Amino acid sequence: MYLCICRAIRERDVDAAVRAGAKRPADVFRACGTSPQCGTCACDLRERIARTTAIEETRQPVLMAAD
Ligand code: FES
Repeated sequence: MYLCICRAIRERDVDAAVRAGAKRPADVFRACGTSPQCGTCACDLRERIARTTAIEETRQPVLMAAD
């Protein structure tokens, strides 16, 4: 599904950007090699970034201290 109609940014594009370190909509636009046009998608991008970030954090391996 497209989250940004102006720049054709899909959910999976946002997910990939988050995995590459994106934390804000501006980071997603940069990762997609574009820039915002109307800005209507900012809220949807933020929600997707938060969702994907939360999922990725649960996937992080638990590091245990070695003695
Ligand atoms: S919908 Fe994303 S910039 Fe317009």
